[in-house]
Amino acid sequence: MPRTWTDMDDFEAFLDDGGIVEVDDDMPDEYRNAVFAFIEMHANSELMGGLTERDWIPRTPGLRHKMSVLAKTQDEIGHGHLLYMVAADMGIKTRTEMLEDLFAGRSRFHNVFHYKAHTWGDQVAIAFLVDAAALASQQAVFKNCSYGPYRRILKRIISEEGFHMRLGEDRMMRIAEGTETQKQIFQDSLDRWFWPALQLFGPDSKPNDVLLRWHIKSERNEVLRDKWVQKFVPMLHSYGFSVPAPDLSYDDETGKWDVGPIDWEPLKRTLAQGGPDSERRIREARENWERTAWVRAAMEQPDTVGATT
Ligand SMILES: [Fe+2]
Ligand SMILES: [Fe+2]
Repeated sequence: MPRTWTDMDDFEAFLDDGGIVEVDDDMPDEYRNAVFAFIEMHANSELMGGLTERDWIPRTPGLRHKMSVLAKTQDEIGHGHLLYMVAADMGIKTRTEMLEDLFAGRSRFHNVFHYKAHTWGDQVAIAFLVDAAALASQQAVFKNCSYGPYRRILKRIISEEGFHMRLGEDRMMRIAEGTETQKQIFQDSLDRWFWPALQLFGPDSKPNDVLLRWHIKSERNEVLRDKWVQKFVPMLHSYGFSVPAPDLSYDDETGKWDVGPIDWEPLKRTLAQGGPDSERRIREARENWERTAWVRAAMEQPDTVGATT
């Protein structure tokens, strides 16, 4: 039985009580639009991340790593697939409309997928830093998410993202035990990816952030970002790498690391599709979509398997 609410106060009281909204419920339009936009951006990011991973299948060194890249590509594309289904069910845009918007540069995806992965070291840094940041953000949503279909899909996605994070740690430990050249390649990658990964969490949450008020997010951006800093700064130091933050400091009293002021301009540029690799990534994703039009056309043909004449 679809639920209805008398007004926004009634709806918010339901959410504050731990209520879960289902797709057929008569949810307020503001909630529907906000949740949809959030899931669409997540879906776009999974797809764009999967395409990056795919680019590395032929270039990945060694069979062991190649198998992991194949599996990760499949996971990320699968996450996108699940999320587009959940978003489309909300009745705002169809899956095709969402994809067309993405390939026309009309919709957003996470900042980290607007940068170029130059070396294998970059791929290690992405799995190590970015997948961990994405996992932390998704766990914070899953913890208390008021939209039922998204929460259920996140359970599956998070379990796979956990593997990606472990994969990143495993790759990082191997490179930390490698030659001086390998370590230098990874340090260069850290220098490129530390700040974009940190900015994945976004600027400090606004006091009136509806995603927090409506229990889509359960944690403020700055809290998640700080937890990530407290985990990764000492970890990188312990493996012999440096953190590319000139104002990095450690507070003996609180026992906490501080990365200093954050320049948010690079993040803003990615949100306007003006990141260092935005143009190529969107164009190649669009070309990939166009090249595979025949598959979609074939799928839409009437099923002739087993037909008799
Ligand atoms: Fe993913
Ligand atoms: Fe991932």
